[in-house]
Amino acid sequence: AEDGLALTPPMGFNNWNSTHCRDEFNEEMIKGIADLFVSKGLKKAGYEYVNLDDCWALPDRDANGKLVPDPKRFPGGIKGVADYVHSKGLKLGIYTSAGTQTCDRLGFPGALGHEESDARQFADWGVDYLKYDNCNNWGIDAKQRYRAMREALKKASEATGRKIVYSICEWGENKPWEWAKDVGQLWRTTGDISDNWGSMLSIAKQNLPLAEYAGPGHWNDPDMLEVGNGGMTDTEYRSHFSLWSIMAAPLLIGTDLRKATPETYEILGNSEVIAVDQDQLGKQGKVLSSQNGRWVIAKEMKDGSRAIALFNETDRPQHIATTAAEAGLPQAPAYKLRDLWQHRTYQTAGTVSATVPAHGTVLYRVSADKNWAAYPPA
Ligand code: DGJ
Repeated sequence: AEDGLALTPPMGFNNWNSTHCRDEFNEEMIKGIADLFVSKGLKKAGYEYVNLDDCWALPDRDANGKLVPDPKRFPGGIKGVADYVHSKGLKLGIYTSAGTQTCDRLGFPGALGHEESDARQFADWGVDYLKYDNCNNWGIDAKQRYRAMREALKKASEATGRKIVYSICEWGENKPWEWAKDVGQLWRTTGDISDNWGSMLSIAKQNLPLAEYAGPGHWNDPDMLEVGNGGMTDTEYRSHFSLWSIMAAPLLIGTDLRKATPETYEILGNSEVIAVDQDQLGKQGKVLSSQNGRWVIAKEMKDGSRAIALFNETDRPQHIATTAAEAGLPQAPAYKLRDLWQHRTYQTAGTVSATVPAHGTVLYRVSADKNWAAYPPA
């Protein structure tokens, strides 16, 4: 959409992957996450949106058809959390469904047929981001349902001045990459991620071929991060974070940061990897080769460098290799090879390779080296 929003992929937090609808999803959690964004340097690293998922509302609308926040979870209301989050220099996101009810079995209200009033209510509360789910849609055409909310958000923004990032969550069912560029800033390309290697891998494989559809203000969304939730090893979580970054995916933290380990903070806070995701050119990385589970993925960067992921899908260490030329870099006497996880710089005459541990990823940033011989050989 052409409103200057999400010119780089949105970064932030969403509670779903860590809490689903359990009671721990509440005001205290959301405020705690906002506090940690500031105190742990995540805000500085670019994380901005603190987003609520399903189950924040009461099952029934009020007499005027307005949505009512669950007073047990959000005693200060949504306006209250929005004010708190804004006071930290952060932004608040909310959730509803393009259907008559959301996805949870308790049946919370959806916005189908209430688009204008709900969008206006979100804007009045100070909401900055809407995730719009796909449950209970009665088979009504997705384009129609998602465009209705686009119009409603536009109207609400004209009336209140509040711009709202619009996240289309129809799970890739209607090929949104083909029509949603002017509807929302991001669209899910797959079903839900879960906290295990197989799920993460299958989602990455579905999202990788869609590279040509991504760009500033319109991103493929392979779902939120599972980093830190315990179902994968830290090596696997580094692969997950590397893949999401080279795919220019939204980086929405999905773990309860109040309980996160130092390793989790180190992964999520790696500013050299985040810089790959947030590059202003806005290109999604493309697969250069994939052979027997050895993947080479390259992303063109604004400064002319390339981010190159050597990703090992297999259960054994693998030697994975490409060249600067294959990745599209110009001919040069030498190249600088920056390892974004080890934070070390090497030099190469053109070969870009590594022995990558099982399920691991070596992520390099490669550029023609004007300073050649300044670094040790790779
Ligand atoms: C389905 C979505 O894909 C999930 O991300 C989450 O929002 C749940 N619905 C909530 O019910």
